[in-house]
Amino acid sequence: MLKIGHRGAKGHEPENTLVSFQKALDMQVDGIELDVHLSADGEIMVIHDESIDRTTNGKGFVNALSLRQLKAFRVNQTQNQRLSAALPQQIPTLKEVFDLVNQDCFINIELKSYEATDKVVTLIEKYVTKKGWKYDRFLVSSFDWNALQQVAFLNVKIPIGVLTETDLDLALAFAKFIQAKSIHPYFHLLTKENTAQIQAKGLQVFPWTINELEDIQKIKTFNVNGIITDFPNRI
Ligand code: G3P
Ligand code: CA
Repeated sequence: MLKIGHRGAKGHEPENTLVSFQKALDMQVDGIELDVHLSADGEIMVIHDESIDRTTNGKGFVNALSLRQLKAFRVNQTQNQRLSAALPQQIPTLKEVFDLVNQDCFINIELKSYEATDKVVTLIEKYVTKKGWKYDRFLVSSFDWNALQQVAFLNVKIPIGVLTETDLDLALAFAKFIQAKSIHPYFHLLTKENTAQIQAKGLQVFPWTINELEDIQKIKTFNVNGIITDFPNRI
């Protein structure tokens, strides 16, 4: 059962920052999950929200600010995270995360905007052709299934994960249609039975975001393929 760090190790460090991804790596994760948007000048930025208001000391939409402007802000720390010795963090680019994760750990890139799709595919292809990374080092997921269809259209070798918060059957049908690798359901949608049904169709199951020990124990009994969590050390 794979251990996947949500936004790095969000329970320990500011989400979607290099220190958060490093913390997840230190906790021996099998994969890290992160979110991407495009900056105004087309850089792939690793940030969850479409605006920087919640997670940084700045204000504005990611797609209205340039890379240079975005890099001028600092990512906020929660009270627990202030115990961390790390310096205040900038919003990373996807390339910076790829360069940090220079070890046997896969990267689950969640497309938060359709506009980022082509650039993410191009960057993955660059790391495969120029750095010799295998395609299975990547897993592109999204709630925007049009974006996933575009990934499949551009490069069938890129592994795809279909995200769903509400409809497992529809997600399964779509996943089969685009030959996805996995389904990423909100964990309350899962039972032992429907997990087995999805797996019987050749798809892996990676539920999110499971943080409480009680929930982790329960989901483990469903034999899911991996767990996406803010607290990788709890898996
Ligand atoms: O990829 C799983 C999970 O991250 C989806 O929800 O809102 O945390 O991006 P969210
Ligand atoms: Ca996400």
